[in-house]
Amino acid sequence: MINTLMVGHGAREHVIGEALVNSGVNLFAFMSFRNAGLDELSKGKVKIHSETDFKEIIEYCKEKKIDFVIIGPEAPLVVGIVDALEKSGIPCVGPKIEAAQLEGSKIFTRGLLEKYKIPSNILSKKFFSMDGVASYIKDMGEENIVVKPDGLTGGKGVKVYGDHLFSKKDIIDYCQELIQKKSGFLLEEKCEGEEFTLQTFVDGKNVVGTPLVQDHKRAYENDEGPNTGGMGSYSMEDHLMPFIDKNDFDKALKDMTLVVNAVKKETGVEYKGFLYGQFMKTVKGIKLIEFNVRFGDPEAMNVLPLLEKNFYDICMEIIDKKLSSDIKFKRMATVCKYLAPEGYPVSPKKDELVKINRKKLADIGAKFYYASVYKEQNKIYTTTSRAIGILGIADNLEQAEKIAEQGVGCIKGNLFHRKDVGTLKILQKRIDHMNSLLNK
Ligand code: AMP
Ligand code: GLY
Repeated sequence: MINTLMVGHGAREHVIGEALVNSGVNLFAFMSFRNAGLDELSKGKVKIHSETDFKEIIEYCKEKKIDFVIIGPEAPLVVGIVDALEKSGIPCVGPKIEAAQLEGSKIFTRGLLEKYKIPSNILSKKFFSMDGVASYIKDMGEENIVVKPDGLTGGKGVKVYGDHLFSKKDIIDYCQELIQKKSGFLLEEKCEGEEFTLQTFVDGKNVVGTPLVQDHKRAYENDEGPNTGGMGSYSMEDHLMPFIDKNDFDKALKDMTLVVNAVKKETGVEYKGFLYGQFMKTVKGIKLIEFNVRFGDPEAMNVLPLLEKNFYDICMEIIDKKLSSDIKFKRMATVCKYLAPEGYPVSPKKDELVKINRKKLADIGAKFYYASVYKEQNKIYTTTSRAIGILGIADNLEQAEKIAEQGVGCIKGNLFHRKDVGTLKILQKRIDHMNSLLNK
């Protein structure tokens, strides 16, 4: 049997682990925090330790005779886990440090898109001091500005005019705060439109797409409240979105392929692993918002359970640089709803008991994935982050949403979720928004 090590501890890693086990590998897990799902899938073959302690990871791989490693989260990737493991002769699914800059440095990414004239790029300028900031804001118009710190900020650093910044002073104050923290930043053009996620498999050259997904970032129903890591997501049975057609999909995929080639030209390093493109459809066409060098969370849950091809084979094709384009997915819709501790993300209630009725979940046909919860004496408790992802899969969105909602009913605890994720009502809102922009 093939010994495979999963690095990471969230619901994304739980679903990747499930895909690995379903494809016949012998799973091990290395995580900073014990994920009960990976614990079960690996039959307890886990090590709880920092995911960026490469020396320990390499030793664990040697001790357990690991054949290859999959890295789930961005944090170890942007500090060079793949470089370290490959130097020790351990194959990995994930990009090396140079290529991981696509997520690790927004300044690197915008610079690359500009240099290689990637069509989905938008206007932006990098700053390392306040010199020229005021005049750039004046030229762009303050209402058209987004401020992005350069490094990883756990989704909390980007501030958008109209959402988080409401005047020129707010923009300047935030830029000054970043300079004080010694962070470079981008000022970039604010886009308006509908966002979608395109997750891909990449072998250095070939980029193969998976079904499109739309995430719901705001904490509360009707897209209100603070931004979160994502409160839920959906995908459609045709693998597109009602407002994103095949032509849009092809444009986004083509740009991701151009970017993968540009990374090779610019850094000499081939991009291998998973690449996540966050795009927005606007009146000016498809625009790139950001890249992540990993699968999305929750978006991985929408895509991997639909895979028709053996996931281990895909991993080997990535490692061997022989990725074929024949990766098929079930033509079904998915809805993922996250249950989060009451008060999340502002003042989440931690250490609260969570009861999961697994029998009822199985009867309904809903899947569930552990996120940031911990197990003590066979009981599950919340932490300060998202707790459990519930997934409904069905022939259409309406049915998938029903299954997910019924699945949520099988979890008891001091938790909340967005009932509107994946509903036809919110879908129609998105369609109307896009149509109003396009004057349809
Ligand atoms: P990021 O961390 O880059 O994904 O940004 C977080 C969120 O900010 C995105 O999902 C968008 O909703 C929003 N955002 C980022 N960049 C832009 C942009 N240029 N125009 C409009 N919204 C943006
Ligand atoms: N759901 C957004 C992310 O994974 O970054």
